[in-house]
Amino acid sequence: MVYYNSIEIIRKKRDGYKLTQKEIQFLISEYTKNKLSDYQFAAFLMAVYFQGMDFKETTDMMSAMLHSGTVLNLSDIKRPKIDKHSTGGVGDKVSLILAPLVASCGVCVPMISGRGLGHTGGTLDKLESIPGFKTDLTVNQFKNQLKKIGVAMVGQTVEIAPADRKIYALRDVTATVDSIPLIAASIMSKKLAEDLEGLVLDVKCGSGAFMKEYKKTKELAQTMIQIGKRSGVKTRAIVTDMNNPLGDYIGNSLEVIETIEVLQGRGPNDVLEVTLALAEVMLTIAKIRGGRKLLEKKIVTGEALDRFREIVKLQGGDVRIIDDYSRLPVAKNKIKVRAQKKGYLQNIDTFNIGMLLVALGGGRVKKEDLIDPSCGFKMYKKIGDHVEKNECLIEIYSDNESKARIVAREMQRVFTIKKKPCRHKALIREILT
Ligand code: URA
Repeated sequence: MVYYNSIEIIRKKRDGYKLTQKEIQFLISEYTKNKLSDYQFAAFLMAVYFQGMDFKETTDMMSAMLHSGTVLNLSDIKRPKIDKHSTGGVGDKVSLILAPLVASCGVCVPMISGRGLGHTGGTLDKLESIPGFKTDLTVNQFKNQLKKIGVAMVGQTVEIAPADRKIYALRDVTATVDSIPLIAASIMSKKLAEDLEGLVLDVKCGSGAFMKEYKKTKELAQTMIQIGKRSGVKTRAIVTDMNNPLGDYIGNSLEVIETIEVLQGRGPNDVLEVTLALAEVMLTIAKIRGGRKLLEKKIVTGEALDRFREIVKLQGGDVRIIDDYSRLPVAKNKIKVRAQKKGYLQNIDTFNIGMLLVALGGGRVKKEDLIDPSCGFKMYKKIGDHVEKNECLIEIYSDNESKARIVAREMQRVFTIKKKPCRHKALIREILT
């Protein structure tokens, strides 16, 4: 039997050497079984962050994480099983809209998502702002719900993708998120546990994404496409812009409200455009005809919203929030941040909008932090818009008045206004297969 020493493996990666499959497997397994401390695994993650991993190491890491738990067998579900995942953004509530929408078209969506990560929001935190909503279903509950309504939205559990559950929470608070091998292993280990036929990835690029440059964004997309392909899952990626926050609202319960608005046909165009683009690819993989027209019909007839209602009901949430937003935790105290001069909005530091949400309590600074689902922001302007002096740029929602005032001051630095007109950003940048 070969003896593995975790310190030696960390040192080896720190010094830029490649790790073997067995070494990676050992480290992931020890950490998942609580035999390796957070501080040692954090050191390993930081070593990977700086030294990177080649494709084989990334695949070995993904595979060790995937097999840390149960790989689902959904063969008794006859509907095509297709899922979507985003690499993370600010105001990105697309999964909440897309899962019930696509399920209402006949696709089975066994969605395993994550919590907030770094400066980005997480589907689970958003859903859990609905009073009573449970994201920790057992494998049996997950499967039963899929059989019943064709969609369930859960998190990594002790049964499914437990390694990602632990590693994800640690990366969130150790500045080790924006690494191609770590993101690819995290996403694909969850998704390949779902017994999928197809997967569509929303790979975000820009200041509010983990990948700021287009070249790196494509590299991340190609890495995940290759991993999916090797596992026999038809994997597509759409590169979308994340220089602006997506939609008008940012913050957990505020994004649930925006989700319901979109499902009622009243949501902002940018959210709808990204959702429909991803959903269309899912229908194509599923060989369901009708494309965009079918998706739009499901919104107009209310079938997509009905599916969302069923998800909330079956997962223990208070369905009354759908018709009565006052049942959601939304901060009452609001502060408007106004433009100090007239001109065109040249740039938004979307990364810092995400960080300011974390500062308000909408994300975590330590693993054990409880988040405040009620705080957030409403966007009034996007890049390229004209602004008058004193016009509102963004509104802060927080019942912690002193924090809200600090965030309001910081927020002035997020917006760059110049005299010269500039273009609005194109949302869909490339579709990769
Ligand atoms: N989404 C994930 O699931 N993992 C990451 O690392 C980034 C986004």
